[in-house]
Amino acid sequence: MTYCGVIATNADERQNNIRYNRIMRLTRIAEILKMEGDGREITVKGWVRTKRGNKNVAFIALNDGSCVANIQVVVDLTKIDEAELKGVTTGACLRVDGTLVASLGQGQGVEVQASKIEVYGTADPETYPLQKKGHSLEFLRDIAYLRPRTNTFGAVLRIRHAMAFAIHKYFNDRGFYYLHTPLITASDCEGAGAMFNVSTLDMQNPPRNEDGTVDYTQDFFGKHCSLTVSGQLEGELGALALGQIYTFGPTFRAENSNTPRHLAEFWMIEPEMAFYELQDDMDLAEDFLKYLIRYALENCREDLEFMNKMWDKGLLERLQFVLDNDFVRLDYTEGIEILKASGKKFEFPCEWGCDLQSEHERYLVEEHFKRPVILINYPKEIKAFYMKQNEDGKTVRAMDVLFPQIGEIIGGSEREADFGKLCARVDELGMSRKELWWYLDTRRWGSAPHSGFGLGFERLLLFVTGMGNIRDVIPFPRTPKNAEF
Ligand code: 4AD
Ligand code: MG
Repeated sequence: MTYCGVIATNADERQNNIRYNRIMRLTRIAEILKMEGDGREITVKGWVRTKRGNKNVAFIALNDGSCVANIQVVVDLTKIDEAELKGVTTGACLRVDGTLVASLGQGQGVEVQASKIEVYGTADPETYPLQKKGHSLEFLRDIAYLRPRTNTFGAVLRIRHAMAFAIHKYFNDRGFYYLHTPLITASDCEGAGAMFNVSTLDMQNPPRNEDGTVDYTQDFFGKHCSLTVSGQLEGELGALALGQIYTFGPTFRAENSNTPRHLAEFWMIEPEMAFYELQDDMDLAEDFLKYLIRYALENCREDLEFMNKMWDKGLLERLQFVLDNDFVRLDYTEGIEILKASGKKFEFPCEWGCDLQSEHERYLVEEHFKRPVILINYPKEIKAFYMKQNEDGKTVRAMDVLFPQIGEIIGGSEREADFGKLCARVDELGMSRKELWWYLDTRRWGSAPHSGFGLGFERLLLFVTGMGNIRDVIPFPRTPKNAEF
């Protein structure tokens, strides 16, 4: 039995579902649509998508969020007074009691013949915004508080849930521990400097040091703090004790990037593994992504078919293609050579040493190799301080996984495990050893080779749902100049 994206795979789970339904006295539409229309008594509760009919009969399409399909409620107007249906308009919330019968209509096996209708909440047709079908995604962003009631966002949010569940399942089944890393932090993991301040000081009149700078010793935490850009540094502490851990939580970046692939608040999955070298890290990343895509294809079929039909005709094929093909593994240096030899005119020219733009990444993936690419061994100047330094003195053991339509979906690396080399790099970058004392200490006592990566949850969802804008795969997006709802 498929229940809200989660499959009851054995008899025990099915029994649990039945018990749950009995306790809640509510069967959801996804399940009802799979039942026989044998005349059994049934209660359905949900929101009206449409109402149509004539003077003898009314047809109500009801949706409760459990699946993309509606259930048809048939109202015999000789039995139920039409006046009682006055509040039944698009968007209203109903309870319907009736019998489940085989449907003669097209596109559905069963329907409910209503014996009683109760309107929980009306929705005035003059003011309710979701009247007609086919609203633009831009319009729906403005009413993000209502868009979960559309078929598209219902599908996206169910897929989002299923992917979150699958991520925990993947790691749990493989002996990884879920480590909760802090959201408030005093260290900048990525060193990019794009962090949101966390302070309780009076912004109008903060306490100041003699030199005029703000005196953070008087702040809540006694030091300058921010929202985290990554749980990695604490994740490493976990890996060097528990062996293999993962984090899965919100992260925050104050970069002013108004693109279809950036959020100021996004969710990241960060596994961190002791005794993994870069090769193992790549193997895990590829296996993990393929597992998630397979999970979606097996468990979110209806929703994916809906997305494929409505938004992205190539979606199912692309998902299957990524499953069926090995990712290309390539040195950054070779990648740059391919880009330079391509003869293609890029908006940003690229030379050895430059950070790849999304146009470069997508050229390698979509035009040159025509499959996902893992690019490794980047110049140290464009990567974070913690990455393991290669013997060439120029590159680090970084890896970015590049995907069609998306560009970078994963960023990761083997970590510098050598105390001396790590300290030297911290100094070289003008960072403070004093601030990072606890992180550096892991390399003083019982250091070990270790690796990890970060998967942007919404980038994964862009790929899996086929949506084109990252604002449409998170319920309430946070982007520059936008924190509504
Ligand atoms: O490449 P990033 O910055 O890597 C890290 O934060 C490492 N600490 C991860 C690790 O090794 N544990 O970010 C990782 C991923 C990117 O590949 C991208 O998918 C996503 O996070 N990401 C964003 N997603 C949405 N909006 C943004 N502003 C993002 N910035 C990064
Ligand atoms: Mg990155």
